[in-house]
Amino acid sequence: MALVLGIESSCDETAAALVDGDRRIVAQRIASQDEEHAPYGGVVPEIAARAHADRLAPLIAAVLEEADVTLDQCDAIAATAGPGLIGGVMVGLVSAKALAMASGKPLLAINHLEGHALSPRLADPALEFPYLLLLVSGGHCQLLLVEGVGEYRRLATTIDDALGEAFDKTAKLLGLGYPGGPAVEKLAREGDPKAVPLPRPLVGSKEPHFSFAGLKSAVLRAVESGEHADADIAAGFQQAAVDCLLDRTRRALDRIDTPPALVVAGGVAANQTVRGALEGLAAEHDMRFVAPPLPLCTDNAAMIAWAGIERLPLGQFDPLDVAARPRWPLDPEAEAVRGAGVKA
Ligand code: KG4
Ligand code: ZN
Repeated sequence: MALVLGIESSCDETAAALVDGDRRIVAQRIASQDEEHAPYGGVVPEIAARAHADRLAPLIAAVLEEADVTLDQCDAIAATAGPGLIGGVMVGLVSAKALAMASGKPLLAINHLEGHALSPRLADPALEFPYLLLLVSGGHCQLLLVEGVGEYRRLATTIDDALGEAFDKTAKLLGLGYPGGPAVEKLAREGDPKAVPLPRPLVGSKEPHFSFAGLKSAVLRAVESGEHADADIAAGFQQAAVDCLLDRTRRALDRIDTPPALVVAGGVAANQTVRGALEGLAAEHDMRFVAPPLPLCTDNAAMIAWAGIERLPLGQFDPLDVAARPRWPLDPEAEAVRGAGVKA
C-alpha cells in the first residue's frame, strides 16, 4: 500500500499529512496563522514565512508519531512547490528536500493547484476523469477540464481578482476581520440578497472568464453610502458572486462535451450557497456534483499527499534542486488573459 507524506506551506496554513493509496488520511495536522495576520486584515508574506519555519518541523514529527510511521515506510515526500507566497513555499519545499535526502525517498514537487484539483478524488473514489472543475480560492478562480493526472485544460480564469480575495475584501470593508469568507457567509444568512443592487461583471460575455474587481468596488461604494445594512451588503455580494459563477460555468459547458461530473474545490468551495447553486447547475446538465468535505476545501496537506499518491504511478519524481515557483499555471498552454492580475 502506497504511503505519502505531504507538506503544505504556500499561504497561511502550515500543514503536514500522511495519506495512503486507500484514500485514508492516516494522520494530519494544520496550524493556522489567522491570529498572526488578523491585525493586518490579510496575509503578510514575511510573517507567514517565519511562522512556517517555526512550526513545520514539529508538525511533521507529530504527524509521523501519531501514525507511528517512520520515513522509511513512506514511498515519497510530497511538498507544495508553488504557486504561492515564495518564502512559505521555500520553507516547505526545503524541508521536504532535507527529509528526502536523509531518508533516500523520492521527492514530489506538487503544484498547489493540482492539490486542489485532485482533492475531490481523495474524498470520492467514484469520481473519475474527465470532470469540469471550478477552482475557487484566495488566489485563483478558474474553470479547468481535468482529463487525468497532469492533464488540465484551462477554459477560463479571472481577468482581475480571485473570488476568495473579493470575499476577504468585502469582509474587511464590513469590519468582519480575517479570514473573510466564512464571516461574510455567516452574515449573509441574515440579509436580503436583493436589497443592494450590485453588478455581475462579465455575465453574458462570450468567453467564460471571470471578473470580480468591479463587484468589489461596488461593495465599497455601497458601504460608503451608509444606506444599507451590513447583512444586506454581505448577502448581495454573495449572490452576485454566485450568479457570476453560474453564468460563467454555463458558458464553459456550452463549449465542451458535457463531462460526467461538475466539481468544485478550493477555499470558496466551503461556501454553502456556492455549493448549493452549483449542485443545481449540475442537475440541470445531468451531471454528478462533487464537492470535497469542508476541511479538504481550504488549504491542507492531505490534498498535497494525495496528489503525490496520484503521481506515484507516473514515476515523475523531482530532483533535489527543483525550484520553488511563485507562479505555476496548471495549464501551461493557456493564453494569458488581458488584465490578469492572478495572485499566487
Ligand atoms: O484554498 P484556500 O484555503 O487558499 C488558497 O489557496 O487561496 O482559500 C482561501 C480563501 C480565502 O479567500 C477565504 O476567505 C475563502 O477561501 N473562503 C471562503 C469560505 N471559506 C474560505 N469564501 C467563502 N465562503 C466560505 N465559507
Ligand atoms: Zn489553496
